This record gives sequence, C-alpha cells and structure tokens, in this order.
Amino acid sequence: MSPVIRPRRLRTTPAMRRLVAETVLAPQDLVLPMFVADGIDTPREIASMPGVVQHTDDSLRAAAEEAIRAGVGGLMLFGVPDAAARDAQGSGADAPDGVLNRALRLLRKDFGDDTVLMADTCLDEFTDHGHCGVLDSAGRVDNDATLDRYISMSLAQARSGAHLLGPSGMMDGQVAAIREALDAEGFTDTGILAYSAKYASAFYGPFREAVGSSLQGDRRTYQQDSANRVESLREVRLDLDEGADIVMVKPAMSYLDILRDVAEIADVPVAAYQISGEYSMITAAAERGWIDRDAAIAESLTSIKRAGASIILTYWATEMAGRLR
Ligand code: PBG
Repeated sequence: MSPVIRPRRLRTTPAMRRLVAETVLAPQDLVLPMFVADGIDTPREIASMPGVVQHTDDSLRAAAEEAIRAGVGGLMLFGVPDAAARDAQGSGADAPDGVLNRALRLLRKDFGDDTVLMADTCLDEFTDHGHCGVLDSAGRVDNDATLDRYISMSLAQARSGAHLLGPSGMMDGQVAAIREALDAEGFTDTGILAYSAKYASAFYGPFREAVGSSLQGDRRTYQQDSANRVESLREVRLDLDEGADIVMVKPAMSYLDILRDVAEIADVPVAAYQISGEYSMITAAAERGWIDRDAAIAESLTSIKRAGASIILTYWATEMAGRLR
C-alpha cells in the first residue's frame, strides 16, 4: 500500500506547519478583562481564579501598562464596589465617583487613545441582589426599567472616557436604548461591543467571587438557554439592527458552533469571551499536572479564533500577547 495523496507531508516540520497554518493569533486580537475594587490597599487574590486579582487603582494602572506594552488590543474593565455600596438600583454604576467610572477616568488619563478602553455595562456588580437589572414588585428583573438604568450608566461611562461600552445584561432593546442616548449627548464616537449571544452558564462560577456578587438564584430569564442555537442568530440580528459595532458570543469554548454561525451572518467584528470558568478549568487541570498549561492556553485561544472570533477576551491576554511577540 502506498498512498499517492499524503496530507502528512504538510506536517513534517515546524516550519512547514507554520507555513500552512490557517489560523494565526496576534496580540491585538486579545482583550484583557480587569477587576478594580473599592476599599482595598493591596491587590486581592481571587481564590477560584489563581493568577487573577481585584486591583487597587495603582495596581490597575501598572497591569494596564504591562498589557499595553505586550500589545493587547484593549482592556475590559469591571468594577467591584464595597458590599455596603450596593443597593437595589445599582446606584454605584452611574455615580461619577463609582469605582468603575473612576477607574475609566484614571486609565483614559494615563493612556489616552493608546489602547481601547472598554467597560462592562451591567448592574450586577452594583446591585445588592446581584441581578443584571432592577427588580419589579414581584422580584422579577424589569426589562424596561433596567434600560433606563443602562442609559444612565452608559452616559457615565462615556463621560469617564470609555471607547467601547459592553452591555452584558441581555435586556431586550439595550443596544438601541444606549445608542440613542449616546448620540443624543454627542457621544457619536463611543462604540457598543454588544454581548449579543450570552448564555446562562455554569462556567461563570468564579466570576461571582471575582466581583463579590451575592446573586441568589440564576439569570435564566434573561440569559440564553444552552440548548438553543437559532435564538442566537435572532439576538445578533437585533443587535446589529440596533447599532452594535461589535457582537460577542459568551462563553467561548462550549459555544464554538454559535461563534461560527454568528461569524457567518455578522458584517461587524465578532468577539468571544473566554470566561472565568474556562480560565479556572485549564488552570486547575494544569496545576494538577494533568495537562500542559501553555499548550492548552494556546490551543483554546486558537480554536476560538478558528471558530470565527477576531477579538477574544481572555484573562491570559497579557501573557499570551507576550508569548506571541
Ligand atoms: C455581567 C457579566 C458576567 C460576566 C461578564 N459580564 C457575569 C454573568 O453574566 O453572570 C462573566 C465573565 C466571566 O465569567 O469571566 N456583568
């Protein structure tokens, strides 16, 4: 037996494999999510995300500088207010001196337009009940009342210097509401990175610790059911019609099929978020010596790009960008 066609020929050497690689990660594809906390003097470890911390203002600036030097495409900021500062309306979200708005101003002042500053536009870090919106008298997340809060939060973030807002609450009409409000205030250049296809996922577990969320119950009345695929196309189309500049799929690794589908219909850049649980799973398995950490990180990110994401949010952004340079 002697096959004439031998695909293995193109795998013979590292140089050959490099020549024929269909997918190549670049530092600028990667966006670093960062947590900044109120009321701490030193960075606080997040136990379920070894290697990721809640930053002080100073450590945030240093880590941002390191990321930018490594060549990452941007930074996505999350605020972690004191437990005592959280309330039913999430007042800290649009307060000009709220932790996230303050951090945005700091970084915009330090780095200007040298990087793309993004902000999580969602109430869950700021509410005492931990939901992404405000609740009605029956305790349900009230879609339209939440839109008013998102508008106010978005304007605060735009005034604080965010280049891109990341509405992640999966409220109906959130992109249109935010776009209209931004334009009315003259923020026509502030963009929207819409969390368009966002699933209710068990893999967000470590994020709850990262932001000190006290959520009881789940987010299944607003985030999508993992059983659904077609529904994501509808969500993406709606966000595109409403003016989204970038659409995102989240989580990434369990939703690579969705990512591929979305990449096929979107005429804007497609992002994916490799979330906390994805980070922690690889980290934990590597700590036990069960997988090769560096190879697993590279493979996971390459597969997310191969599936259709041109932008990837990952807690390994700085490290991976450094490795790619
Ligand atoms: C909502 C938000 C969440 C994440 C990003 N934005 C939490 C959620 O929807 O439950 C999760 C990110 C991660 O798990 O790394 N503010």
